[in-house]
Amino acid sequence: MKTLILFYSRTGITKKIAENLTNSLGADMEEVFDTVNRSGVFGYMRAGKDAISKKLTIIKPLIHNLSDYDLIIIGTPVWVGLMATPIRTIITEQKDKIKQVALFCTQGATNTQGALADMTKLLEKQIVATLEISTKEVVNNNFTEKLNKFVSEINK
Ligand SMILES: Cc1cc2nc3c(=O)[nH]c(=O)nc-3n(C[C@H](O)[C@H](O)[C@H](O)COP(=O)(O)O)c2cc1C
Repeated sequence: MKTLILFYSRTGITKKIAENLTNSLGADMEEVFDTVNRSGVFGYMRAGKDAISKKLTIIKPLIHNLSDYDLIIIGTPVWVGLMATPIRTIITEQKDKIKQVALFCTQGATNTQGALADMTKLLEKQIVATLEISTKEVVNNNFTEKLNKFVSEINK
């Protein structure tokens, strides 16, 4: 199965999971880059404001064509209980090219299902598998079990 890991990461946490998944699945990987600067305190505040208002942004053109893949695994950090703005943008603009989809998110707190529900609703597709990991679990490298379970659901 031809698989692409497509993710956005503001501070590298979601990226670490994307890289691990890429290695585990032998998949291709693409990071989504926003043209809006979201670094620092102002970038954080703007990110929260954009996420709440479900605003779209302008992302840099993707290198990979989503239609070429059997499965797209989309990863996002949770922003105010929702998906991050660059991921909302890519799903809105390219969801028709997606055949099968799995989702993962990283978040400061645990058990915040909102972002995955938000993505599921926007995608209007059945989701193959989901994975939620807290920032703390990523920093402490304490995510192998969850990641392996997600990978085995995908490989089923
Ligand atoms: C604007 C903003 C809003 C956030 N809102 C939430 C939230 O509602 N719930 C939560 O658990 N974490 C929230 N976080 C924390 C991030 O989801 C978390 O730190 C994530 O792992 C960062 O991933 P990244 O390094 O890939 O950007 C928020 C972060 C930002 C920047």
